[in-house]
Amino acid sequence: MSVKIAPSILSADFANLGRDVQMVLEGGADWVHVDIMDGHFVPNISFGAPVLRCLRKVTDGFLDVHLMISQPENYVDDFLKAGADLVNFHVESQGDLFSLIQKVKAAGRKAALTIKPATPAEALFPYLPQLDMVLVMAVEPGFGGQKFMPEALDKVRLLRREIDSRGLTCEIEIDGGINLENAPLAYQAGVDILVAGSSVYGAEDPKARIAQFKKACEGLR
Ligand code: DX5
Ligand code: ZN
Repeated sequence: MSVKIAPSILSADFANLGRDVQMVLEGGADWVHVDIMDGHFVPNISFGAPVLRCLRKVTDGFLDVHLMISQPENYVDDFLKAGADLVNFHVESQGDLFSLIQKVKAAGRKAALTIKPATPAEALFPYLPQLDMVLVMAVEPGFGGQKFMPEALDKVRLLRREIDSRGLTCEIEIDGGINLENAPLAYQAGVDILVAGSSVYGAEDPKARIAQFKKACEGLR
């Protein structure tokens, strides 16, 4: 069992996104975390499906798409067409989550749901059998470079217990403020995938940072 690292390109150089994605994949990143923000669900705008489509052309890497948008039902087809490998919706967004998940699975992609810091882990329980992944936010979504909220680890433990006791295969991801100190704690709590934005792209050597994350978690589970 080993941790997956998903660098968030929110902290990459947007003028050189293709290069920055290839760099982290060459450095051993397992997934590429793609943050979509609409300026409404969160107070920030990032980019949309056309950028994802361009990334799809330059990499076969796994594109983990985190939709921080109010009305995902209006855009889910665009992200599927653009080549998302996983589409992740917020529980707090509008729309019928079961049918959104169904749509993603019918397209042969992975489906996930996310909870913000104020949303209890239990909000995810009814969806777990349908999901490939759940994401626990450890910061308020909207910006990279924020401070990790340790309460997120209690939610991870709860989800880990629930998923394991029901014999489900749903993976757990954590996102926000992940660094070399809290990464091993998150992994021990039951996280399978660590999202890391500023700590990877802000590092002097992003490839070496990915290796450091893996080493910090090695053998802990
Ligand atoms: C926050 C985004 C995160 C963000 C993480 O809203 O969902 O993926 O890029 O950045 P860091 O690792 O810098 O907190
Ligand atoms: Zn994210």
